[in-house]
Amino acid sequence: MTILVTGGAGFIGTNFVLDWLKVSDEPIVNLDKLTYAGNLQNLQSIADNPKHEFVHGNIEDQALVASLLTDHRPGAIVHFAAETHVDRSIHGPEEFVQTNVVGTFLLLEAALEYWRSLADTDRDEFRLINVSTDEVFGSLGPDDSPCTEESRYAPNSPYSASKAAADHLVRSYFHTYGLPVITTHCTNNYGPYQFPEKLIPLMTLNGTQGKSLPIYGDGKNIRDWLYVTDHCTALRSVLSNGKPGAVYNIAGNCEMTNLEVIDELCTQLDELAPDDSGEPHRRLIEFVKDRPAHDRRYALATDKIEQELGWRPTETFASGIRKTVKWYLDNQAWLDDVSSGQYRQWLDINYTQRAGAE
Ligand code: NAD
Ligand code: DAU
Repeated sequence: MTILVTGGAGFIGTNFVLDWLKVSDEPIVNLDKLTYAGNLQNLQSIADNPKHEFVHGNIEDQALVASLLTDHRPGAIVHFAAETHVDRSIHGPEEFVQTNVVGTFLLLEAALEYWRSLADTDRDEFRLINVSTDEVFGSLGPDDSPCTEESRYAPNSPYSASKAAADHLVRSYFHTYGLPVITTHCTNNYGPYQFPEKLIPLMTLNGTQGKSLPIYGDGKNIRDWLYVTDHCTALRSVLSNGKPGAVYNIAGNCEMTNLEVIDELCTQLDELAPDDSGEPHRRLIEFVKDRPAHDRRYALATDKIEQELGWRPTETFASGIRKTVKWYLDNQAWLDDVSSGQYRQWLDINYTQRAGAE
């Protein structure tokens, strides 16, 4: 069975594609628009792999998506393509509505038309996996229980609102038309190939360059951290054994404050890339103006995926962060390439106005 992946040149998509080709003989068609977050270099190691076909294109291009579905007859679509950075959604929400809401809607339309054309057995087996986020549930208090798959949606940023809208559309295509969709909510992924606008790669890059480590607000916001290959394993389980119309939470069972994350990251940098001055990297921490509507805590209950599909994360934060920091240190050329030009403009937009604590 061929699978169609959208956004497979981004962070999680790349890891999913590389992982898939290691463990499966089934071919992948990888549709990606190559926005600033998509990077063909990520896929260099599989450039000659006949099981992987990269297609440079937009999920909103209905003719293109229809022809990919008709030509390749995939048994599943795994939908990663999105605008994904909360801070960018605050500075420019329109692109988020366009890609995440309209793009997902157009993909659903194309998938429905294709699915209806399939023979009965192929229709039963077809799946569309919608990769969503814990952020749609909004902010938790310190004593709240982690969100379950049934928790109420309460998105607070344009990014999370656009993902919530996409989730609702996906759900409606199951109930209204019977399209066999599954939505997954995952927590903060980290690992190789993440664009250095997100917390861990940004802090790693800044730390190695002796630049400040800008912590929003008081640094006590809590996120759950999921090593990206654990996420990929979970998605493969969902694809093989998840129930059509179902929703699954995926988390690392690893809640930490941002300060705890940066502290561990600094320990790793001190050991793996000690500063010439011999000073600890922690000295670079700087508290800066907070993100508007900065959700205090995210946490997901994972009983359902553990009990129904037998999936559990395998990495601890200590093992995952070490691998991650090592990967960035070993892939300086990749970092140099993605952190030129447009990236520097983004740093100006996002960080210049934050200078100095509130
Ligand atoms: P990313 O920003 O690294 O990559 C997104 C990819 O989508 C890029 O390769 C980009 O070129 C592509 N893309 C964007 N618009 C497109 C379009 N219109 N057509 C085709 N391709 C397009 O994102 P990521 O961190 O890998 O996230 C992947 C998915 O997982 C997203 O849906 C995101 O909302 C979700 N998610 C991410 C995290 C996380 O921690 N990174 C957590 C929860 C959920
Ligand atoms: O929770 C899942 C979500 O995780 C995904 O849906 C998003 O696509 C992904 O970007 C991520 O969102 P976050 O906003 O949690 O990730 P980010 O790396 O931007 O920030 C993580 C935390 O670190 C958050 O509390 C904000 C804080 N932060 C972030 C940056 C970039 C800082 O303190 N300083 C920074 O410079």
